[in-house]
Amino acid sequence: MDQRQREKTPEQRARIGASVRSNVLFSSMPPAQYEALLDAMFEVRMKPNEFVIRQGDEGDYFYVVESGEFEVYVAKDGGPPRRVMEITSGGTFGELALMDNTPRRASVCARTDGVLWAVGRATFQSILVEATLRHRKKYEPYLNDVPLLAAIDPYERSAMADCLVEVAFQDQEPIVRVGEKGDAFYIVLEGNAAAVVPEDGGSGKQKEVMQYTRGSYFGEVALLRNEPRKVTVLAKGQVLVARMDVTAFRRLLARPLQHKLEQSMQSYSPLRATDEKFVH
Ligand code: CMP
Repeated sequence: MDQRQREKTPEQRARIGASVRSNVLFSSMPPAQYEALLDAMFEVRMKPNEFVIRQGDEGDYFYVVESGEFEVYVAKDGGPPRRVMEITSGGTFGELALMDNTPRRASVCARTDGVLWAVGRATFQSILVEATLRHRKKYEPYLNDVPLLAAIDPYERSAMADCLVEVAFQDQEPIVRVGEKGDAFYIVLEGNAAAVVPEDGGSGKQKEVMQYTRGSYFGEVALLRNEPRKVTVLAKGQVLVARMDVTAFRRLLARPLQHKLEQSMQSYSPLRATDEKFVH
């Protein structure tokens, strides 16, 4: 057993739990496996400019970020390393080399002081590899078809796949309700949905202000503006959506895609355009 593996204090367990909360691979794990994973983790403290991983090295550990900012650099075809993404609290990295026994595909360097939780290759392989592969294989094809995500690094889409939960709704069931606090972002996997608002004049009827099909997304406005939901979104027939909780949304989407999200929000204010139907 690794000398650094030891019993965790309740405080340490709580810190790890908080860090992995938005990652479905952890939250959907049987409790015994989750406990075994926590037991195997050890804390690593990093200083700015320290490398956690160097591209080309052999894979040894998988990491969960408790705090701090970590930059990922990829050097392609002998060229200089280019910064491809940043990983912050709640993010994970270092799984690729352990998943397929290949050299590290990127370098990861601390930009700030940070705290990581590391888990060794054997534990990662026995507990997390299968679920990670299954999840990514299932959701990546859907994410590849979402126009909003077309320009981001493919690896970021893999990280998103780790945070998606699939939820099915029946015809006319509300997926989000007007007035509620927003706690998640949604991507349509299969079927159709529509955003509705009450018709003017107090008739009690609803009118559609937006339609959603496979690859459409909704639910970002309340999260970005910290405001209650402005519309209700109803299933039209059976619909399957992928749900990402607000923490993962802020970490994975709001940061890299803020500009794009804000831009498309301009085009669909149901409060402004009362009679038009929008599709995106
Ligand atoms: P691994 O190859 O084991 O070690 C470097 C890690 O950086 C890699 O796993 C991923 O977890 C992470 N990473 C982040 N972005 C990228 C990217 N664009 N390409 C490859 N790995 C990336």
